[in-house]
Amino acid sequence: MNLTLKIWRQKNANAKGKMVDYQISNVSPDMSFLEMLDVLNTELIEKGEEPVSFDHDCREGICGSCSLYINGEAHGPDRLVTTCQLHMRKFKDGDTIYIEPWRAKAFPVIKDLIVDRSAFDRVQHAGGFISVNTSGNTQDANAIPIEKANADKAFDAATCIGCGACVASCKNSSAMLFVSAKVSQFALLPQGQVEATDRVMNMVNQMDAEGFGNCTNTGACEVECPKGISLENIARMNREYLKASFKG
Ligand code: SF4
Ligand code: FES
Repeated sequence: MNLTLKIWRQKNANAKGKMVDYQISNVSPDMSFLEMLDVLNTELIEKGEEPVSFDHDCREGICGSCSLYINGEAHGPDRLVTTCQLHMRKFKDGDTIYIEPWRAKAFPVIKDLIVDRSAFDRVQHAGGFISVNTSGNTQDANAIPIEKANADKAFDAATCIGCGACVASCKNSSAMLFVSAKVSQFALLPQGQVEATDRVMNMVNQMDAEGFGNCTNTGACEVECPKGISLENIARMNREYLKASFKG
């Protein structure tokens, strides 16, 4: 396939960015999207030009670092896949592909297609953990019975990889889907109850302090989430927050 790529180039956080056109040929439909960008970068390096900076790590859909806005959709046109698992067969010969970084005030651009997602780390630090004594007196996991339905929902919430596609897809740049997944994975389990009140208050307060917008129930986050995290988690987080507010 021969393609035209329109890629956001920005030297650093303070520089003014712009879209730059690139032509790329002989793209195999079996290449992943990131492999296609690797080919482009090899060509740019051979020509003595600056390669395009983009985030990636596992390339297996588990680390959440490959954050690209492709043709106006977070992680591109496929469903339930990350950018690293998107394949070029989803595009046609002659296509023009727009490639941009996540667009959200709380995720400032560092360079080209790389954004700073440390806001998510700070939300996690505010409460995305449980305090467990691991000094050798740890209780056997099977000693705490957990209803199957809750175990499944907690597991589903825990599959959130923190990629930020939910924020990038939301017209308000809301992080509610991410934060609610992190709250839900503990709220549904007995192990999460000890710190439940502080957790939801602290994580929501940190989310607001980072400058993420509010949820207005549009649902774009759920559609674009590569892990299929359900909006049901946002409803659960709102209930947890209300409960915690009454406890003071
Ligand atoms: S909720 Fe989905 S889109 Fe948002 S960070 Fe988690 S995996 Fe990514
Ligand atoms: S590179 Fe890890 S999820 Fe894509």
